[in-house]
Amino acid sequence: MSTFPHAPDAPVAERLPMTLPRLAEKKRLGEPMVMVTAYDFPSAQVAEEAGVDVVLVGDSAAMTVLGYPSTVPVSLDEMVMLAAAVRRGLRTPLLVGDLPFGSYEASDEQAVGAAQRFVKEAGCDAVKLERGGTSVQRARAIAESGIPVMGHVGLTPQTATALGGYRAQGRTAQRALQVARDALALQEAGCFSLVFEAIPAAVADEIMPRIDIPVIGIGAGAATDGQVLVFHDLLGIYDGMSPRFAKRYAAVKDEMVAGVRAYADEVRSGRFPGPEHTYSIDPEELEGLRAGLRGGG
Ligand code: KIV
Repeated sequence: MSTFPHAPDAPVAERLPMTLPRLAEKKRLGEPMVMVTAYDFPSAQVAEEAGVDVVLVGDSAAMTVLGYPSTVPVSLDEMVMLAAAVRRGLRTPLLVGDLPFGSYEASDEQAVGAAQRFVKEAGCDAVKLERGGTSVQRARAIAESGIPVMGHVGLTPQTATALGGYRAQGRTAQRALQVARDALALQEAGCFSLVFEAIPAAVADEIMPRIDIPVIGIGAGAATDGQVLVFHDLLGIYDGMSPRFAKRYAAVKDEMVAGVRAYADEVRSGRFPGPEHTYSIDPEELEGLRAGLRGGG
């Protein structure tokens, strides 16, 4: 590695670490919460320096950084490794690890065991799981084991096939009622927060007054208590499928390609490395080296 990793310092020193009571207080005060995903040390440092409230090591990592075709294949081991790297770059935001598909559905014991790995091995503050249904009981078990848990309703990518694909949910009265029931059940099970993904804004408007815990929206309109975006979508690093709600604030991939292309051009044309990128040696030492080489080493 060419540089030494260092944790972000001075500018964040005065910021207090985000806690569950502080998030609840933000909701009470109507202060919007900012959540972003991160998957490694540098993206965590960016989130830290930008001053976000919550960082999610989302299973979107499957697609954005591991190149899988969906979120389904990513393993618990892979997620814990990514979360540990994020932890090393983060000081103040609340860190949430996303339980991947297949790591929590089978039993309460499986769910608690997976959640414990995020806390023990990666230093996460909380975990997230998807869906209502059986996930409500898993959320209860995790919360009762002492690990804060975030629910996720609406479009739940781990089970997108069963939902008819990556599409908005809750667009009929019956499906919207199901989203509301799932949200209320997860709240009652002890979740400290919820994600609403890809539901009509008017549906979120109706559900929000019934929810007492912080709700972070993605494609759920402006009524939620905060917003979350995927790091690679918002910075324009990933150019896979981009959902309607993924507003792009930068074109970082274009910058990265331009940078690597400029480097390649300079290597090929002999302009890099220049004298300023090379180390010197005392002429006498160099002469000694030459003599040594002439003498056969
Ligand atoms: O995995 C992820 O990035 C997520 C967010 C979209 C909420 O679950």
